Amino acid sequence: MLKIAVAGVGRIGKMHAEIIARQTANAQLVAVADINEDAAKSIAGQLQVEHATVDQLFSASNIDAIAICTSTDTHVELIEKAAKAGKAIFCEKPLSLDVEKVDQSLRAVDAANVPFMVGFNRRFDPGHKSVRDAVQSKAIGEVHLARITSRDPAPPPIEYIKVSGGIFMDMTIHDFDMARYVVGSPVVEVFAMGAVLVDPRIGEAGDIDTAVVTLKHLNGAMTVIDNSRQAVYGYDQRVEVFGSAGMAISDNPRSHNGSVFSETKVQDQNLPYFFLERYTASYINEWAAFVEYVLNGGPSPVSGLDGKAPVILGLAAKESVRTGNPVKVDGV
Ligand SMILES: NC(=O)c1ccc[n+]([C@@H]2O[C@H](COP(=O)([O-])OP(=O)(O)OC[C@H]3O[C@@H](n4cnc5c(N)ncnc54)[C@H](O)[C@@H]3O)[C@@H](O)[C@H]2O)c1
Repeated sequence: MLKIAVAGVGRIGKMHAEIIARQTANAQLVAVADINEDAAKSIAGQLQVEHATVDQLFSASNIDAIAICTSTDTHVELIEKAAKAGKAIFCEKPLSLDVEKVDQSLRAVDAANVPFMVGFNRRFDPGHKSVRDAVQSKAIGEVHLARITSRDPAPPPIEYIKVSGGIFMDMTIHDFDMARYVVGSPVVEVFAMGAVLVDPRIGEAGDIDTAVVTLKHLNGAMTVIDNSRQAVYGYDQRVEVFGSAGMAISDNPRSHNGSVFSETKVQDQNLPYFFLERYTASYINEWAAFVEYVLNGGPSPVSGLDGKAPVILGLAAKESVRTGNPVKVDGV
């Protein structure tokens, strides 16, 4: 039984705590912590576990693993502390907005030799994974093209945009990871275009809300990613890989399976609203993978290098928008 504590019980940490407590075999949620003590108390009460300060989690002998689900700017410091304390670590994406800091945290993990996994949950979505499996098994031959569409239902608050690191570090970061995951070949070049088409306040905050990114992979394949901060019809998440012998697609699921047939039309259902609804299965599978990895060993399902590569690609995309030129990267 792996004893896990969750640090940071905001949007994502609360959900992770619930999944660990209720839906993860061979795991036990033992404590939650947050600088917002009321939030920690409330979740601890609901899940009938201890609440503590984050520092108390590091020194607790009954905790084997820590899930770092706090705001991005705290990840590096908490990874270093958890590693020094000898805890297995799960850390939400992005590890940091700064590559040097990512390296600093990974050095601490290496020095302590503790299990470490990054929260790129979409790898554990059954549909997206089936696309990767089709590539790995050569069912679609050699990969030529990948297309990833990732559009949020509505933009986050402007205050969040200001500290998010921008659309590429906050949102496209998942798509950079997905491109590496499904194509299975490192990225060598990034070319990005961006615009402010949804809300001028996003532009005033120094960000863009609509983007197209093309990636060149080492094996010659190309990926096209398109992003919008606002799709009025819901959370649009599609992944497609086209190869010499076929194509694999992970399409949008509907909010449920019902449809209504009349004389003039067939009425489908809308999309799940956002990530907590759309990616529930991925989060459950992600926790199963983490627990299996920590208890039984083997390579990390999402390693430190998998955490670092999308940060490099996000910074390259920013640079590409700024200069209007493609940016070469060192095979990440
Ligand atoms: N994988 C995913 O699908 C996904 C989705 C959303 C967010 N995230 C990532 O998860 C992280 C958290 O995002 P969120 O949307 O839950 O944010 P949030 O603001 O809702 O929650 C963050 C929580 O961390 C707490 N916190 C901040 N600093 C702390 C500290 N030093 N010690 C203890 N607690 C602290 C805050 O009080 C808050 O409760 C971010 O890095 C984000 O990029 C991942």
